[in-house]
Amino acid sequence: MIATQQIHEEYGGVVPELASREHQKNIVPVVDAALKKANLNLDDIDAIAFTRGPGLMGSLLVGTSFAKSLGLSLNIPIIEVNHMQAHILSHFIEDANESAPSFPFLCLTVSGGHTQIVKVTAPFELEVLGSTLDDAAGEAFDKTAKILGLGYPGGPVIDALAKNGDPNKFRFSKPRVDGLDFSFSGLKTSILYFVQKELKTNSSFIEENKEDLSASIQKTIVDILIDKIAKACKDENINEVCLAGGVSANSELRNQLQSTGLKKGWNVYVPKFEYCTDNAAMIAIVGYYSYLENRFCDQSISPLARLKL
Ligand code: KG4
Ligand code: ZN
Repeated sequence: MIATQQIHEEYGGVVPELASREHQKNIVPVVDAALKKANLNLDDIDAIAFTRGPGLMGSLLVGTSFAKSLGLSLNIPIIEVNHMQAHILSHFIEDANESAPSFPFLCLTVSGGHTQIVKVTAPFELEVLGSTLDDAAGEAFDKTAKILGLGYPGGPVIDALAKNGDPNKFRFSKPRVDGLDFSFSGLKTSILYFVQKELKTNSSFIEENKEDLSASIQKTIVDILIDKIAKACKDENINEVCLAGGVSANSELRNQLQSTGLKKGWNVYVPKFEYCTDNAAMIAIVGYYSYLENRFCDQSISPLARLKL
């Protein structure tokens, strides 16, 4: 059961204060609706998993406080979940899914707040091999879409426009970053300067080229991601490769990962669309693995906006 927060579209981004108010308003009706849909009562529940972080403090507080109070009133354990680990373990949501990765695997986690390459040896053994030094991949989509005046969130808009565009029409330079780390803020700046320059001679430049611009920007971002995951596979000698996080909904990224995987002999795992962007099922799957290992937390727990993996 998901309550989508349309309010952010009006502001061109997530406004933390508004997000937490929406959470506050929606949490009881959403839990109610989810129970009804699952045909369950509150007393059928064995434990409650909640997101401890990373994320926006106001929204995390709503979920954490709700989970603590409900746990207390039902006298059942509560389970803290790391949002990034949940994105990664979303590959295991469907039990019957025989196409789940086998351990150890590498996961490219790309969202609005994170870009990471993680080595996963077991559900609770995760090692971050590389991450972004500045903007996340999702931010690169969102911020460039804003420069082009395309609306929020930018990723899906750019993805849709790129389908009718030429990815080789415009060339943007890629950052040189050592090891398995990423950087996206330079790309955003170079797109801004490029567009500003073109607008001086043609005020309709963006309108006339938005498909080609979208395709070229998307290709640049995806190439950067694919280069690094390929390096990680080589360095670690692992050929199980997963994609996770909101940006894994991107069609070019999905296609390129599949085609590169075919060439390089990787087994590639791409989540179903509904499990790519933030969802409660991915929190529940971490809750399930935690429950099996008695990984519960106590009532003194508080959320952490910058919880590390
Ligand atoms: O994981 P997520 O739902 O929320 C965070 O935890 O950040 O990711 C949201 C991000 C946004 O930056 C959004 O633009 C991006 O995922 N996104 C996409 C696509 N769908 C969502 N980026 C590129 N192409 C898409 N189709
Ligand atoms: Zn997320």
